[in-house]
Amino acid sequence: MDKDISGQIRAGAEIIRGGGVVAFPTETVYGLGAGAFDEKAAARVFEVKRRPFFDPLILHVGDKRWLDDLVIDVPPPARELIDRFWPGPLTVVLPKKAVVPDIVTSGLPGVAVRVPSNGTALQLINAAGVPVAAPSANLFGYVSPTTAAHVRSQLGGSVDMVIDGGECSVGIESTIISFMGGAPVMLRPGGTALEDIEDAIGKVAIPANDDLINQSPGRSEQHYATSIPLVLVNDISEVSNISGININTTDGGLGLIALAPSDDLGDISGFAKIEYLSASGSLREAACNLFAAMRRLDASGVGAIAAVPVPGTGLGLAINDRLRRASKKGVAGRR
Ligand code: TXA
Ligand code: MG
Repeated sequence: MDKDISGQIRAGAEIIRGGGVVAFPTETVYGLGAGAFDEKAAARVFEVKRRPFFDPLILHVGDKRWLDDLVIDVPPPARELIDRFWPGPLTVVLPKKAVVPDIVTSGLPGVAVRVPSNGTALQLINAAGVPVAAPSANLFGYVSPTTAAHVRSQLGGSVDMVIDGGECSVGIESTIISFMGGAPVMLRPGGTALEDIEDAIGKVAIPANDDLINQSPGRSEQHYATSIPLVLVNDISEVSNISGININTTDGGLGLIALAPSDDLGDISGFAKIEYLSASGSLREAACNLFAAMRRLDASGVGAIAAVPVPGTGLGLAINDRLRRASKKGVAGRR
């Protein structure tokens, strides 16, 4: 590994300018980046990720001033959010200019844009000198990567470079707010709390999932999944009653994901491996640890994972969204 981060950034920017694909850290999760105006490079991002072309990419820009080149209009509440939360884990969807290739937006009239706060990401984008189109650097449907090692283990052989910027500080993807229908709509809860967004611009609509899939095709139910089954349980005594997942009979035993040690959890003695997301019960810390904990349990030899939802305030909304969708693996197909 090249320890010299500025050397890595220079090399990465060169690769992006030359039409290559580079995995890089952001404060949320690692991204798989290509120059946004290079349709061939964008197509390779979809291929490497095995992502369907109907699921659009977020553009990462170096500064909010870049936005004017990409979108037709920035309504006042979008401007307010940008001024308040950029750089940071917030993505806005706005009407795109023709210069944004259709492959990036999957033919949608809106483009998703954010300014990341991670220093390595910002330097890379600025050195490349173009917006960087990047989804999370994981195979489609799997848990997002929060370290360079996560990226290498899934995509190492198929990308031109992985920039190692250490662990992501937020650890969960950006919150996505769309202004395509005029009034703000939250397409995905994420690293910027809904409460803080509503504090800035008032009520934000949260559409039902069926409407969401039309506006944001990537929001399929089955996502962020581990390779072994994950079930959501409100009470861990439930795990003996869920079909196929039984604390006594599941091969390898069960893993448990919970926010923090607590008597309220009940009897945890039967679990083979337990991941507490934050010993102190901090939702921010829990968000940061979530995906790595899911990966550790996935690789630990347990046969299935039981996950207890966290309080749904602040970043808890995004944590519960990811757990819920991880639990839908295979279920959508059976319905
Ligand atoms: O934090 C993040 O947002 C990370 C880092 C790398 O920036 N990126 C990320 O990208 O999570 P991805 O591709 O895994 O998820 C982005 C989602 C898409 O699945 C899609 O639902 C939505 O953003 N999206 C992207 N472009 C859109 C558009 N033009 N209109 C509506 N939704 C869009
Ligand atoms: Mg993703």
